Amino acid sequence: MARRGKKPEPSQTPAHPSREPRRKGARSASPQPPAVPPSDDIRRGLAHLAEVERLAEIGSWEWDIVNDVVTWSAELYRILGVEPDECHATLTGALELAHPDDRARVRETIERAHRDRMPYECEHRILRRSDGAIRVVRSRGVVVCDRQGRPVRMFGTAQDVTERRQVEATSTARDMSERRRAADALARSEAQLRAFAGKLRSARESERTHIAREIHDELGQALTALKMDLFSLRQSVPEPLLRKTDQMAGLIDQMVDKVRTLATELRPAVLDNLGLSAAVEWAVRQFAQRTGIECTLDLPPHLVGIDAERSTDAFRILQEALTNVARHARATRVDVHLRATPGELVLEVHDNGRGISDREVSDPRAFGLVGMRERVLTWGGEVGVRAAPQGGTSVTVCIPLGHGRPGAAA
Ligand SMILES: Nc1ncnc2c1ncn2[C@@H]1O[C@H](COP(=O)(O)OP(=O)(O)OP(=O)(O)O)[C@@H](O)[C@H]1O
Ligand SMILES: [Mg+2]
Repeated sequence: MARRGKKPEPSQTPAHPSREPRRKGARSASPQPPAVPPSDDIRRGLAHLAEVERLAEIGSWEWDIVNDVVTWSAELYRILGVEPDECHATLTGALELAHPDDRARVRETIERAHRDRMPYECEHRILRRSDGAIRVVRSRGVVVCDRQGRPVRMFGTAQDVTERRQVEATSTARDMSERRRAADALARSEAQLRAFAGKLRSARESERTHIAREIHDELGQALTALKMDLFSLRQSVPEPLLRKTDQMAGLIDQMVDKVRTLATELRPAVLDNLGLSAAVEWAVRQFAQRTGIECTLDLPPHLVGIDAERSTDAFRILQEALTNVARHARATRVDVHLRATPGELVLEVHDNGRGISDREVSDPRAFGLVGMRERVLTWGGEVGVRAAPQGGTSVTVCIPLGHGRPGAAA
């Protein structure tokens, strides 16, 4: 292996004459004296190049492919921490300086560049001979071919980028830990928001229940009393006013109906009194009557152990899914399935309408669908809204059973 940039000059004189056996540990060996001594200009140019390499901390090398002789610049010897007589001036000898774990990759890169006659760029570790330190080197090379297109030479540069990589690794680690901290904070605040939204929904439900009862009991009873009073008045009113009292009684009946509907819409009593199955049955029947859409309902024979909060969420999701069918699906039929395993409650609503698009599903302004997801996520469950392969839209809701609302205590 010949040393370049220092004595002897010129820089890339092959260390071994092409077919001579090479001795292990031979210094780039006795450089062959150049036939013509270099001129002062060449000498100055080489010295300048060596100085520039030292300043830039970039070494250079050359591989005479035909004779398998590698030559390095003085700066490259410094980077590698070897003395010129410490290694073989062959490609294999040069590769021995690469870190054992990276050696095969470096060889492969060089061989590929050689085969494809393409420039290469590669970053790998070396074991610096002088102190055993592991350093990171960035190496680049190009292939030179003869007139017949045969690769005869490769040359390139190598730069020690250890410090740069260390700085990058430290700042990446810092970025990562900052990012992780930000992600944790975001996840915490998301969980808090979700728990808060869950609390708001529960509060709204109990408010609805309260108002529904008030309306039903207070207003309903007052109207019934009014009607009874009117009925007793009717006995004594003169004939011309009888029609008027009948009209008033009719109006009171209408108001009683309205009050019942209002109370039920706020919070169907059946949900609290008879449970989820009965409420689902009631809602599907109402939906079929109101819209004229044919409905089938598949309910489990016994649905026990579903608490009021999960029942409310499942019921509200069903209401939203049915409302969506009426408003958007153009369907003529809806199938509703409700079932519960020991681990989860599953509700499916499938219509035979136009089918929802992916864009509609992922639209962040689809607040009805977002509300469904939020209700389910507070239980750690899942909701799938998708166009069904057989046509129409499927809404599938899974709510885990058996533990409290995650984050409810927050
Ligand atoms: N069963 C369905 N069939 C076809 N399209 C649907 C169905 N359900 C929902 N979509 C589409 O998805 C969109 C989003 O539904 P989403 O319930 O979120 O909003 P919305 O019903 O338009 O308004 P709201 O906020 O009042 O519920 C709807 O506007 C509609 O285009
Ligand atoms: Mg909707």
